[in-house]
Amino acid sequence: MKNIKTNLEENTLVITINRPDKLNALNETVLTELESIIIDNRDKPNIKCVIITGEGDKAFVAGADIKEMSSFSSMDAIKYSNKGINLFNIIESYPKPIIAAVNGYALGGGLELALACHIRYISKNAILGLPEVSLGLIPGFGGTQRLRNIVGLGNAIEIITSANHIKSEDAKKLGLANKICDNVLEESIELCKKISNNSSTAIRNAIQSIVSGMNVNYYDSFSIENNLFSQLYETEDSKEGMLAFLERRKPKFKD
Ligand code: CAA
Repeated sequence: MKNIKTNLEENTLVITINRPDKLNALNETVLTELESIIIDNRDKPNIKCVIITGEGDKAFVAGADIKEMSSFSSMDAIKYSNKGINLFNIIESYPKPIIAAVNGYALGGGLELALACHIRYISKNAILGLPEVSLGLIPGFGGTQRLRNIVGLGNAIEIITSANHIKSEDAKKLGLANKICDNVLEESIELCKKISNNSSTAIRNAIQSIVSGMNVNYYDSFSIENNLFSQLYETEDSKEGMLAFLERRKPKFKD
């Protein structure tokens, strides 16, 4: 891998986007490498959580690579946007929790990546925003839709049309961040350890229920939950989890 580093922290795969001299901007190589790592690790039972972060302490990701994008035709732009949208959809519907450890700037495609992740932990110096209109563009990796879902219509239109840089405290107030951290990577790893104690099968179904439920009619979403809830009764994990509670001991999940 040219622009991505990975390491394993117990059951957590830490993926680091590694172009610090370009503030970890997303070029085609980064997108391709990120997609291949995410897909390759999807079904590995030893990996229970994933963290995505950026190299250095200045940026998570400062956006799509503007130099690369500047020579695109509109046909190139369609392909590029589809590549990002497909990857970020894979991330959003991933069966294992994915945490964005936002360690500095998360702008444009960088914030869009963080918005596709399930959980966002951010550093105190984090700056978030979708400044594409200042380049004569709009967000092209799903940001218009995901930002609206997370912060609501009025806030999304204000953030996108103003191209504002949002500081960490304001990001937290807007619901863009789950937590502001003193050490974002350490605290993300701690969260992953806690998540890893729970049943991976149940976690997979929980994420599927929450994410799939967003895309259907409100009342249809309850039948998705109902199916995924009842499916778990066919797993060893649910038997073990409930038995352990009744026997007043910690469960040993087999996943
Ligand atoms: N693409 C390509 N290179 C980038 C980049 C980006 N998005 N962001 C930063 N860089 C590069 C700079 O060109 C610079 O490289 P050189 O040293 O080779 O000139 C290096 O990273 C350091 O950046 P700065 O010197 O600009 O650092 P700074 O501290 O002065 O400013 C910043 C930091 C405010 C984040 C500023 O770099 C910036 O505004 N970056 C662009 C942010 C942006 O507009 N992102 C949206 C991109 S478009 C997009 O993402 C489209 C989409 O949705 C698909």
